[in-house]
This record gives sequence, structure tokens and C-alpha cells, in this order.
Amino acid sequence: MAVPALDALLAAGVRGARVFVRADLNVPMRDGGIGDDSRIRASLPTITRLVKAGARVVLASHLGRPKGRPTPALSLRPLAPALARLLDCGVSFSPECIGPRAEAAVAELGPGQVLLLENLRFHPGEEQNDPDFATALAHLADAYVNDAFGTAHRAHASTAGMVPLVPRVAAGDLLRAELDHLRVVREPARPLLAILGGAKVSTKLAVMEALAPHADALAIGGAMTYTFLAAEGLPVGASLVERECLADARRVRTAAERAGRRLLLPSDHVVARAVEAGAERRVVEAIPEGWIGVDIGPRTAAAYAAEARAARTVFWNGPMGVFEIDAFAAGTETVARGVAACRGTSVVGGGDSLAAVNRLGIGARIGHLSTGGGASLEYVQGLVLPGVAALER
Ligand code: 3PG
Ligand code: MG
Repeated sequence: MAVPALDALLAAGVRGARVFVRADLNVPMRDGGIGDDSRIRASLPTITRLVKAGARVVLASHLGRPKGRPTPALSLRPLAPALARLLDCGVSFSPECIGPRAEAAVAELGPGQVLLLENLRFHPGEEQNDPDFATALAHLADAYVNDAFGTAHRAHASTAGMVPLVPRVAAGDLLRAELDHLRVVREPARPLLAILGGAKVSTKLAVMEALAPHADALAIGGAMTYTFLAAEGLPVGASLVERECLADARRVRTAAERAGRRLLLPSDHVVARAVEAGAERRVVEAIPEGWIGVDIGPRTAAAYAAEARAARTVFWNGPMGVFEIDAFAAGTETVARGVAACRGTSVVGGGDSLAAVNRLGIGARIGHLSTGGGASLEYVQGLVLPGVAALER
């Protein structure tokens, strides 16, 4: 079975057809406005092609986690003028995403016009993948395009339930490009280096267990480092440790060793008295009592960056320390520059890693910046994404 491409849908003709586009417009909001519009920009190519082809575009997304209730702070309304500006065409807004009001708004659309629906997650049926809610969404559509890569790991009404109910379906250009680029991590040119950071072993365990035997080297950073150190009986001072994950950390090491792969742990650390800007800090090899690990040390950062430069494929997800605080950002920045200097293919995913890359202005030197955090991790570990599986015809 194959996933139909947008090209095929366009070739068959969409003029005057109601095309429901599930995008991931889950952008960070700041003071009632849009904080970072990367996900909106990434959605534009598919929408533009449909507009040019004369489709009546019904655009849908979630924003945040409103838990099934209308939540004014998570309304998609502010995105309509932003989309209109970026698309250079009128974008109307429907305060309801299903029912008579939404249907009336869709009926008013002319060919080449765009309607943005309110946040899908204002209804509990979206995340519950409720059949009635899925049917109500499908009522708005003659054709369905999924371009929401960042949400493809969720089996929700708009990503899964409604899809079989619409006669013509396709993967959008963003979804397709994401899968093509991330496939490189599943079928890499070797050596493949995976760099995983972030606070918690628990949220990255599945991907670490999948990558430990697959990647030639798996480099660990971020606060989850200290759980790995504790698992090996090394001192961690007052650092964050997930005691319930010690056995998991040991299993990751064993999985790497059995497969003849390398698991890289930091050999030096930036430690501080408190996780605060201005706190007393030091670089150490062994973390002393009363000190908290806040970043990988400079020797480790240089080593990871050198590995990244020499690898033929690099996959990086998750910061190396508390990079929001400048004094603890050096490890993440050095690694980001190393990834950008990789002579092979580099792929970066996850909101924090993207923020670090964007802050350094080196995005153009990265092979692929994924719009999905959780989705990219699930895909590289070989899982089937429900939003992709639903498109197979
Ligand atoms: C994301 O930002 O991770 C995606 O938009 C999916 O959102 P979710 O994690 O709330 O399901
Ligand atoms: Mg998420």
C-alpha cells in the first residue's frame, strides 16, 4: 500500500472541491500573538499549491492542549491574519470546526479561497478519535490532505478517524518531505551518530533503546545524563536523577554494547549551586556533593561536535543543558555548531534543539529541521505513525 501524493490529487483536479487540510499550526503563542511562525511557514507550500489549483481550502489544526474545552487563549483566530499575510490571499475564520456554522462558512468559500477552522481540540472528540466527531469533520470535505507531520504520531479524529470517510486523500508536501528526510536516519550512511538530550530518560527511553543498537554511536547529554551516571555508580551531587529509570539506563548501555555500538556519556560537566542565572558555577569531572549538573562540559561538547563533524549521518534531538540560561548554554551551542559542520546529512528535531539552532542563525547549514519533536522520534525508532498509516490506499 502506498500513500498518495499531493501531485496525484492535483493532477486529478481539485478546482471547486472542498479540500480539508490538516496542518500542524501548533505554534508557540506569546502575549496573545504568535511567538515563532516556523510551523505556519512550513505549511504554506501545500496550501499555496491547493489555492493556485482553485481548491476551496478548509484548514484545520490544534493549538496546545485545551483538554476538550473552548479556551480563548488557545484560539486559532490570531493565525488567520498571519496566514492571509503569508499566503497573500484572504483567509476567513470559523469559530466552530464542525456543525451548521462551519458548514455554512465552507459553503461560502469560492475556488482558491481559504477558511481556517477553530482549534480542533476544543472538542473532546478530536483526541478521543470519536466516530461522530470524525464524521462531522468529514462532512466538510470532498478531499483530505494531511500535512501535519508534528501530529502524525497521534491517532486523533482529524489525523486518523476522518480519513477513511473522505473519498480522495493525499499526503501534503511537508509530511512527505519530513518522511523522506527522516528515513535517512532509519537507513543511514554510516557512521550514524545520534545525539539525544533533554531532561528525562523516561520520555526518551523508547528512542534510546531503538537507537542504541542501530546508531554507530549514541551520545547522551542534558539532565538525563545524571540518571546514566547514577546507574553506573558515579557521583551526581544534587543533580536531577530519575531513580526509577536506573535499570532502564543500564539496559540502554547493554543494548549498545551487545550490538558493538558506542554509548557516549559526558566526561566533564558544568555544575552550579542552583539552576539560576548568576549562580556560582564550575567545570568538573566528578560532580561534588551539593552541586547540580546544568550542562555538558567543554571537553565533552568538543568531543561530541568532533563526532558530528566526522559522521556521515547525524540525528540530534534535545538540548545538552539548561540552555535557556546563557551561562549553561555553551554545550548545546557547541554541539549545534558541530552538527551544522557535519559533512554528511544532518537532521535536527524537537522544539528546544530548533530554538538553539535558530538562535545561532545556523539553520541553513542543517540538512533537515524537522517540524515534529515526538513524531520525529517515533518515526526514527521505526514506529508506524497513525497519521501516515491512515493515508495508505
Ligand atoms: C506537538 O507540538 O508536539 C504537536 O503539535 C503535537 O502536539 P501534542 O504533543 O500536544 O499532541
Ligand atoms: Mg508533543
